[in-house]
Amino acid sequence: MLTHVIEADSFKYKHQTYQEHVKHEDMESAEAVLYDIMDETMHVRYGHKWTAKLMERYQYPGPLEQLVAECREILINHSINPLQRASAEQAKRSS
Ligand SMILES: [Fe+2]
Repeated sequence: MLTHVIEADSFKYKHQTYQEHVKHEDMESAEAVLYDIMDETMHVRYGHKWTAKLMERYQYPGPLEQLVAECREILINHSINPLQRASAEQAKRSS
């Protein structure tokens, strides 16, 4: 759920946050967000490398798309973070 949903779905609002900091000439905050974007990009790449292997190891019965959709639904229904819920709902509509 973390790499394919929470982190992957977060880039749009993180890029918006970065642009807001740049617009307000708050370069220290912009740099912090940029660092976070780079860090999460690596995590998403690890997820794309390892999730299939973990699904096989734990004998998940369906394809990756099914697992991602299930995780996204859980996030939409249970996250206490409104940004996470909104991003997951937007990604669901786009998929
Ligand atoms: Fe991460």
